[in-house]
Amino acid sequence: MVKIAFLGAGMMGQPMIRNFLKGGHAVTVYNRTLEKARPLEALGAELALTPREAARGADVIMSSLTNDDASQQTWNGPDGALQADVRPGAYAIEASTVSLAWVSKLNELAATKGLHFLDCPVAGRPDVAEAGQLKVFAGGSADDVDALRSVLDAISKSVMHVGDVGSGITFKLIYNVMGAIQVAACAEGMHACEAAGIDLAVAAEGFATGATGSPHVARHSGYMARNEHEDPVQFSGKMRIKDVEYGIGLIEDVGGQSVLGHATRAVFGQMVENGMGDMNDSELIDTLRRVHSKGTA
Ligand SMILES: NC(=O)c1ccc[n+]([C@@H]2O[C@H](COP(=O)([O-])OP(=O)(O)OC[C@H]3O[C@@H](n4cnc5c(N)ncnc54)[C@H](OP(=O)(O)O)[C@@H]3O)[C@@H](O)[C@H]2O)c1
Repeated sequence: MVKIAFLGAGMMGQPMIRNFLKGGHAVTVYNRTLEKARPLEALGAELALTPREAARGADVIMSSLTNDDASQQTWNGPDGALQADVRPGAYAIEASTVSLAWVSKLNELAATKGLHFLDCPVAGRPDVAEAGQLKVFAGGSADDVDALRSVLDAISKSVMHVGDVGSGITFKLIYNVMGAIQVAACAEGMHACEAAGIDLAVAAEGFATGATGSPHVARHSGYMARNEHEDPVQFSGKMRIKDVEYGIGLIEDVGGQSVLGHATRAVFGQMVENGMGDMNDSELIDTLRRVHSKGTA
């Protein structure tokens, strides 16, 4: 049994926490909005009022938080996890999708506390997290990744060791830019089919079963064709923008180009401009419908 402090009981954090509990681990949970974490108590989790309180004496401190700001406040704020009396030699894991710059800083801060740091962003939606089938892109030393495999097995079907600290988030951000481009391409293609008078159920089947049929396109074209989107929202337009912005920054910093990333940022920006930023990414097709109808009105 490993003593885990988990920071962030959101759409992704909650199922990961449930799977750690099912795996026999002791989990102390911090969530900014305490009430949202209450249902986890009945499953055996302890709740902490601050990240500092959660992290005290833990073997593993792991977070799943919205963005850089949320991660900075939770790890390094006045009552942050790094202010705790941590166990030297314990592990700090950042599982959120944040920027490489922040992950690098967090690694330095964790080292000053004697913690081993790994960036372990995850791929898979909340239903995949519930099934314990996430993909983990791990950045850290081979010894640290091996030491944590049995813990990460509780939430994951595949722990991919990408390389040193920072490489997990580097891969994840590039992966998410590609993913966002596919969702945007799917919305554009489906909307174009509709405008051309093609039945959307037929279009979705064609895209899903043809060479275009990545898992993203297969899933999202179905939602778009049925006009039924996930409830509650699983991944919003604003979250897509966050990931694409971090990803474009990284790609350009390493000397790459992201023409498609910028175009994708622009179309998800149209969602926000149309008041739809908190809706599912698959609802981008509705933004395109609105933009198109304004253009042709
Ligand atoms: N959803 C997906 O499909 C998916 C898939 C893979 C990876 N991810 C990544 O996983 C991470 C979590 O995503 P999610 O879907 O679980 O998001 P979510 O449901 O919105 O949860 C976000 C979490 O961050 C906390 N938070 C936000 N701002 C904060 C702040 N300023 N200070 C402290 N805590 C703050 C929230 O606390 P409150 O409850 O108080 O708001 C909540 O615990 C993100 O980095 C996301 O990109 C998501």
